[in-house]
Amino acid sequence: MESESQNAWIDVAGADQLAAGGAIEVVVGEHILAIFRADDSLYALDGLCAHQGGPIAKGELSKTDVGKTCVTCPWHGWQYELASGIQTINRQPLQRTFPVREKDGRLQVQI
Ligand code: FES
Repeated sequence: MESESQNAWIDVAGADQLAAGGAIEVVVGEHILAIFRADDSLYALDGLCAHQGGPIAKGELSKTDVGKTCVTCPWHGWQYELASGIQTINRQPLQRTFPVREKDGRLQVQI
């Protein structure tokens, strides 16, 4: 049986371009992604805010009252949990997330 469901890892940047607590914006095909390094983990979200397309990679990180790390869109303040893309007010997964990893000094994502 062949498995066609596994997406390839796509190299997007050097791991040293993303400091702890920081974010970078990368373009992968027709996608703009925001990649964060926080809490000793990597997170990749759609780089354009689900509200009106604000630049998610330029948002500030903070903790929700239940300890989840979230990013605040710089345009109008919508907040999304990094791990799930859940919008913190309406609790809906409005912001798409993507698998991301660090391998051999490079950042890689799956689309
Ligand atoms: S565009 Fe992000 S909150 Fe409005």
